[in-house]
Amino acid sequence: MRVLVTGGAGFIGTHVVEECLAAGNEVVVVDDLSSGKKNNLPEGVPLYQVDVADADAVQQVFELVRPESVVHQAAQISVSRSVREPSFDARSNVLGLLHVLEAAVQYGVRSFVFASSGGVLYGDVWEPADEDQPPAPVSPYGISKLTGEYYLQFFAREYGLRCTALRYANVYGPRQDPHGEAGVVAIFLQRLLAGEAPVINGDGKYIRDYVYVEDVARANLLALEGEWEGFRAYNVGTGLGTDVNQLESGLRQALEEVLREQGRELELPAASYGPPRAGDLRSSLLDAKKIQRELGWRPQVTLEEGLKRTAAWFAGRKN
Ligand SMILES: NC(=O)c1ccc[n+]([C@@H]2O[C@H](COP(=O)([O-])OP(=O)(O)OC[C@H]3O[C@@H](n4cnc5c(N)ncnc54)[C@H](O)[C@@H]3O)[C@@H](O)[C@H]2O)c1
Repeated sequence: MRVLVTGGAGFIGTHVVEECLAAGNEVVVVDDLSSGKKNNLPEGVPLYQVDVADADAVQQVFELVRPESVVHQAAQISVSRSVREPSFDARSNVLGLLHVLEAAVQYGVRSFVFASSGGVLYGDVWEPADEDQPPAPVSPYGISKLTGEYYLQFFAREYGLRCTALRYANVYGPRQDPHGEAGVVAIFLQRLLAGEAPVINGDGKYIRDYVYVEDVARANLLALEGEWEGFRAYNVGTGLGTDVNQLESGLRQALEEVLREQGRELELPAASYGPPRAGDLRSSLLDAKKIQRELGWRPQVTLEEGLKRTAAWFAGRKN
């Protein structure tokens, strides 16, 4: 199958690309490289440097590539930027999605997978939320993800495009950008390796559901290969809650182990505490029984193992 991965040079996108290639698919990437990196892509994967908000450019790529399926990861991912510039967010995350959906219909794409977000759709939840939890987005980023899902439902109904929204929990793993506002694992690792104290916001008792990026990539492939009609939404998470204090100590242990194995000596500074971040959810957990039941997906990488793999990647990288 010829798969077009938008945002394919980004953190999750590159893992989706690898997963699709490993399953024997042909892969083409569209990315404007606003945060993605060309050298994250496996050699030989064609990259079209295109902004999905540019409808003509998207059309041209579809005309050239004629993909059979699409995984749409491209998005501006900053919640705070969406608050500051809601129209910038909507331009990438709503208009951009629409351009790709319209081209998908025009060029006879069979399957369309969309990167949605459980955290921003469900808001604060203390028990794992299933897909029936009423959406309650509070940021423009959340509103655009929900709007995206409504558009998917429309395109599925109106044009018979098979559409899947994958509502990710907190994704972590190799290649995550440590310079953003999200991605606490990457941010902490970057600081620890630079000899700087990781800064925990507030009391650190903010609970998240951390899911390893390769597990997320596999969920994308399963969704792509599904044979149902219409629209489906699936949570992609572990249902397990970890607060930032626990995460920081697990990460420190993982990194110490990795450095010991590499024969490196590095003094890791203790964490410090900063002010709480406005608007941060207290707790966000996803119930992923539906995707387990219907697609046979379940997370395979434990947090302990995932943190170790991620620490090893950050400790070994050159830039
Ligand atoms: N990382 C998470 O925990 C998480 C959680 C929920 C949902 N998501 C969603 O998963 C997807 C991938 O996120 P990520 O964490 O890999 O972030 P990322 O920033 O690494 O990936 C996004 C990619 O899209 C590209 N991009 C951005 N705007 C574009 C545009 N207008 N045109 C073309 N390309 C564009 C970027 O260059 C980047 O390569 C996003 O849709 C994000 O909203 C991520």
